[in-house]
Amino acid sequence: MKRYDLINWFIERYDYKTYLEIGLDQPKNCFDRIECVKKYSVDPKIQCSRSTHYQMTSDDYFKFVHDGKLDIVFVDGLHVCDQVIKDITNSLQVLSEIGTIIVHDCNPQKEIEANPQRQTGRWNGDVWKAFAFFRKNFPNLFMKTVNIDEGCGIIRYGTQKTYNGPYLEYSDLETNRSELLQLISPKDLECYY
Ligand SMILES: C[S@@+](CC[C@H](N)C(=O)[O-])C[C@H]1O[C@@H](n2cnc3c(N)ncnc32)[C@H](O)[C@@H]1O
Repeated sequence: MKRYDLINWFIERYDYKTYLEIGLDQPKNCFDRIECVKKYSVDPKIQCSRSTHYQMTSDDYFKFVHDGKLDIVFVDGLHVCDQVIKDITNSLQVLSEIGTIIVHDCNPQKEIEANPQRQTGRWNGDVWKAFAFFRKNFPNLFMKTVNIDEGCGIIRYGTQKTYNGPYLEYSDLETNRSELLQLISPKDLECYY
């Protein structure tokens, strides 16, 4: 299963109508494969003739452009903890009641790829720390990570037993990976959602 299969799975499951992709890069890799009535994208580096693409940062998009509710948001912009926290916070504010946020790159396998400064071709950054921040501080969310495609974090309103361990160093992730990320496999989706 790839990230777009997972996004489409949620769209079909809940009959979602509105999708936002934060961080578009090449539309053919994900955006074009999403099957949803209304699709929007934002990326400061990507020029695109579609009227539903916004060439700006996600911060500016939420501040100046966005209007109304979103059913599903794919957070895949700048892979740096503080920015991902902002992207998730802004998304939660406009998320429909039964909406879903999917956060790419939550499950890095190598420390060098989890560095907030990009050093490698494959780069997850410290997105996992943003996920940990919400696992620790938000008992009113329901959070899992599907162990596919660099780790796809799933955030919805609900309840959770919060994570109480550390999340400062990469070794904290290695020691607490399963509990921190709440890892599940695609075959578990039906039983949680
Ligand atoms: C990993 S790529 C996105 C890949 C795409 N979502 C996919 O699944 O194929 C990350 C993109 O985020 C964009 N980006 C960087 N900073 C951003 C920001 N502040 N807001 C939105 N997008 C940003 C980059 O320009 C880059 O194109």
